[in-house]
Amino acid sequence: MIDYHSHILPGIDDGSRDLEQSIKMARVACGLGFTKIVATPHYEEGMTEYYFPRYPEMIREEVERLNNTLLKEGIGIEIYPGSEVMLSPNVIEQYEKGKMITFGDQGTHLLVELPLNFQPLWVDDVIYELRLRGITPILAHPERYIYWQNRLEKIEEYINKGVQLQLNLGSLAGKYGKRVQKTAERINKELKIDYYGSDAHTEKGYEILSKLENFNT
Ligand SMILES: [Fe+2]
Repeated sequence: MIDYHSHILPGIDDGSRDLEQSIKMARVACGLGFTKIVATPHYEEGMTEYYFPRYPEMIREEVERLNNTLLKEGIGIEIYPGSEVMLSPNVIEQYEKGKMITFGDQGTHLLVELPLNFQPLWVDDVIYELRLRGITPILAHPERYIYWQNRLEKIEEYINKGVQLQLNLGSLAGKYGKRVQKTAERINKELKIDYYGSDAHTEKGYEILSKLENFNT
């Protein structure tokens, strides 16, 4: 079982504080049956470059360091590199400069997120530009965007434009409230989900998943 969205890398974003917490998170994830985790620390154009000028290399190094630690600790989880990119009009330029890290560092997919409360006007353009460059955008937690919660047909339009979906398992467990939970259930039933993820920022983000029925199926 693979977790495709996790803030398990230590000290980079608002996820894991330090290596100790990353180990804790991996232990809980392992107990739930996960064997692989794509580490997806936040990338925000401008801010990320300011705080972490070596961002992509740093992610690769941190992934290696965490993998070595988990091996030593005897935790059967393998971490893969990635990032969660806050879409912005300048993302294309930054992408071309190699400023962010693609999904699994494969150069083919990019996990992207949008503001939760309003839909920016340039979303379609940026998605189109990414597709032109051979990148498949994976939309993180579509169930959390309030402007699409009663308009699943809008999300479907993006699927038709070549976007893939990543649903948060925590949404199904009620982590973000009833409205997000209901939307997640509908999306799960009615649309094609390509990836599921914990979007865990701490060990609690994994613990809550034990609430889900039929989790391992
Ligand atoms: Fe996230």
